[in-house]
Amino acid sequence: MCGIFAYHGQQQALPLLVEGLRRLEYRGYDSTGVALANGNEVVRFRTVGKVGNLHTVLPSDHPATKGIAHTRWATHGGVTEANTHPHASFDGEVQLVHNGIIENFRQLKAQLSAAGITCTSETDSEVLAHHVALGLKEGRSPEEAVAAVLNKARGTWGLCVMFNAHDALVCARHGSPLIIGKGDGEMFVSSDPHPLASHTNRVIYLEDGDLATITSDGVRVSRLGGQEVEANVTVLDNDWGESELGDSPHFMHKEIHEQPDALRHCIAGRVERTLGKGHLGGMKLTHETIVQTPHVKLLGCGTSFHAAEIGQMLIENMARIPSVAHISSEYRSNEPVINPKALHLAISQSGETADTIAAIKEIHLKGGQAFGVVNVVGSTIARLCGQGVYIHSGPEQSVASTKAFTNMVAALTIFATQLGRTGNLSRNEGRAIMEGLQQAPHLMEAYFDNPGPIDEAVDLLCNAKSVLFLGRGLSAPVAKEGALKLMEIAYIPCLAYPAGEMKHGPIALLEEGSPVVVIAPNDHVKAKTLSAIHECRARGARIILIHEKGDVIAEEGDVSIAVPAIHPLLTPLLTVVPLQLMAYRAAVKLGRDVDRPRNLAKSVTVE
Ligand code: F6R
Repeated sequence: MCGIFAYHGQQQALPLLVEGLRRLEYRGYDSTGVALANGNEVVRFRTVGKVGNLHTVLPSDHPATKGIAHTRWATHGGVTEANTHPHASFDGEVQLVHNGIIENFRQLKAQLSAAGITCTSETDSEVLAHHVALGLKEGRSPEEAVAAVLNKARGTWGLCVMFNAHDALVCARHGSPLIIGKGDGEMFVSSDPHPLASHTNRVIYLEDGDLATITSDGVRVSRLGGQEVEANVTVLDNDWGESELGDSPHFMHKEIHEQPDALRHCIAGRVERTLGKGHLGGMKLTHETIVQTPHVKLLGCGTSFHAAEIGQMLIENMARIPSVAHISSEYRSNEPVINPKALHLAISQSGETADTIAAIKEIHLKGGQAFGVVNVVGSTIARLCGQGVYIHSGPEQSVASTKAFTNMVAALTIFATQLGRTGNLSRNEGRAIMEGLQQAPHLMEAYFDNPGPIDEAVDLLCNAKSVLFLGRGLSAPVAKEGALKLMEIAYIPCLAYPAGEMKHGPIALLEEGSPVVVIAPNDHVKAKTLSAIHECRARGARIILIHEKGDVIAEEGDVSIAVPAIHPLLTPLLTVVPLQLMAYRAAVKLGRDVDRPRNLAKSVTVE
């Protein structure tokens, strides 16, 4: 949510900043801006719209070797040039980019008004730039001036400040991620690792409450209170370099088709087939801990929540431990009961979702323990939990999450067998699940070779007023995931329901020709799902059926799409794929911006 990129070094900053923004654009794309400093001169260029629009305001060349840049996802104030970052101070001495929310910005603004300073934007961020400039006027150093205003601010920030009369950039983090990349004689600042990978693999993850002063050849990190801290350098995983589009038309298309390999990465070294279980090294749980676990809570938002719902069912099925999935954004405000002996799993692709971070903090506050199930290495959730697993999907750049979902489900399947084999799950059954998991990448590839009549389904969907998605058991969260994908990138209103609930309300929506997507793999609830299909057909609905290959249920669909057969507990890994493809092709057909759907951003770093 908002992307920050900054550079301080020997090279021309402008092309580096634009490239950095391009790679961060999936975090927000309402408006973009750049400020450059070269000796005495500071220049600023801002425009509404995507990074691609920047060229309309940028010079073709600029000698500056230092600069800050921002791509915005609007929170306070509309999408206008005035609200676009960088924000300049009243005297032009300070340029500032900010990701996060300053909750008491009205109070800070009132203090500025009292000093005769008027804000030119509606944002919460601009006040920080003016306060920093006031601090400089009062004789503070750049670090002191930034620390002074942040000590008065309430809310969240990842920010970077550039000065007219001082060489250093000053950055700070509290609740919104910020990473410093160390090159040779050059330093980079970024909201996430993607844009850094092509420049350096040595990074410093700032912690909440850190302030960093950056020159071209070094960085000094301190706490907001002033005490210096050691800047720990982490070596970035090679995976973060592979985020190019290549021959694919869109990142979503690329990432859907990367699922077989992503899945192989996720399960590599984690399957103990002969023992009939998997093992996640980061989930360090003794036999005693597992048998004493009273319950498991799984937390996530959006797609990660849907993976959590599947995880809940898998854990209950295999381990017989009561489990429940929670939407992170609801968790903290509902006064949750937290049992220190319970296991909490925080599931997140980005590892930066503010709602999930808030839920983890609540768990910690009440003496509970949380394990991360996360994709982005070194992300806030991974570090906050300090224990857990990486799902190893590699960079996911499309706003619509795809390969992270299947890898979350795979990681949770492995975890469920790890828990299950301490008691309820037989070795043979565990082995069958592990074998299925190992086959899943091949089966996905087989599906891609013959994806079925996706375009016929898309024809039904694109003209619909709304689409109903139905599934039962493990397919109920898959139905939700399919609906979320279609809604978020094709902007078609969708409703997802457990198939048995349809007759309790949503059936009223059905008219002649209404499309209903039904996920009905060959599991123990298929017969009941079939009843729902008949009820829909009786009301004139057109059924888009996702089923397993060779199953006679295929006859029940107006459009039937077959996925390879797999172990009944692993069906979500395959049934979700045609739903992803359908959403993708519907969005392309409707001319949507597939990778950057309107109003959304990849990492939602505000609550
Ligand atoms: C849907 C989507 C979002 C995210 C949600 C959680 O395609 O991308 O619903 O799943 O914002 O994000 P993470 O997993 O990064 O916590």
